[in-house]
Amino acid sequence: MMATVKIVSGDEAGLRAAAKIIAKGGLVAIPTETVYGLAGDATNDRAVARIFEAKARPQFNPLIVHVANRSMAAKLVTLNRSAERLADAFWPGPLTLVLPRRRGAPVSLLASAGLDTLAIRMPAHPIALDLIRLSGCPLAAPSANPSGRLTPTEAAHVAASLGDRIDLILDGGRCTIGIESTVLDLTEPTPRMLRQGGLPQEAIEAIIGPIALGHPEGAIRSPGMTASHYAPSIRLRMNATSVTAGEALLAFGPHPLPGAATTLNLSPSSDLTEAAANFFAMLHRLDDRRYSGIAVMPVPETGLGTAINDRLCRAAADDAGNRGD
Ligand code: TXA
Ligand code: MG
Repeated sequence: MMATVKIVSGDEAGLRAAAKIIAKGGLVAIPTETVYGLAGDATNDRAVARIFEAKARPQFNPLIVHVANRSMAAKLVTLNRSAERLADAFWPGPLTLVLPRRRGAPVSLLASAGLDTLAIRMPAHPIALDLIRLSGCPLAAPSANPSGRLTPTEAAHVAASLGDRIDLILDGGRCTIGIESTVLDLTEPTPRMLRQGGLPQEAIEAIIGPIALGHPEGAIRSPGMTASHYAPSIRLRMNATSVTAGEALLAFGPHPLPGAATTLNLSPSSDLTEAAANFFAMLHRLDDRRYSGIAVMPVPETGLGTAINDRLCRAAADDAGNRGD
């Protein structure tokens, strides 16, 4: 095994080292009661881009944002009555709640893949909670495995699969639950379980009554337009080599195309991690009916460029007049 990563215990020194890495935008693998998470500062676009890079996921799926207490959650999302009751019953614990993102919530748009909702959970593990408190920021953390590999439930699993891509692993022993948290969407009139996990459906229904299962009708049929995918409200063109009148330009690289109504550059130095960090925030800024559309310059199909192109493809495929929410 070639892993060069440091594995430390979650004692005071270990936590302090981890918090320092988080503050610099680095990545730390953390134990939770469900599985090990690959954690970074959820408010830092670059840190979140590094998470996607380390996982080598070909897509930007929204990530879970981990908080240490209820007031931290309340700063990021609007907790409705069901959320309050479920949090009373099951937080800290293996339940993730999808809720409306608060205006001005400091979480990176890349962490929520551009959505106006956030998935929030309070993990039931002292090391995870201590690190969030010490870092003073919410932590974005998907499971700490590369895309397509087994979900890690021990520090050694993380070292074996991600060891050369992260800065530190906090060892908290074996995860007691061993499967990921249950994800419950509370943004619609009927609560919906988007992912089965550590907390059973019956436990949730005992608190808030019947819930729906799976993704809403049509979610598979029209990628890019669904509740789980952000799509701009104006037309988007990929691989643009020129700009037409009134178009906004999402540029990439040192030579932005001339003639745009406005231009934002994903990365003037052609750095794909920087481009990913800027991607959703810039797309949101250009998604304005003042422009006739968004022209996007070619983004190389390597590294994080694959995930950027995947998302652009979905947005471009949809007809502007035909969008969902
Ligand atoms: O147990 C867990 O939940 C672990 C540990 C580390 O906490 N984390 C984890 O995170 O599994 P991740 O990022 O691999 O899972 C995120 C899940 C995905 O199913 C994603 O689609 C969903 O949550 N999700 C995240 N944000 C969402 C949003 N705004 N709307 C709908 N679904 C969302
Ligand atoms: Mg996973």
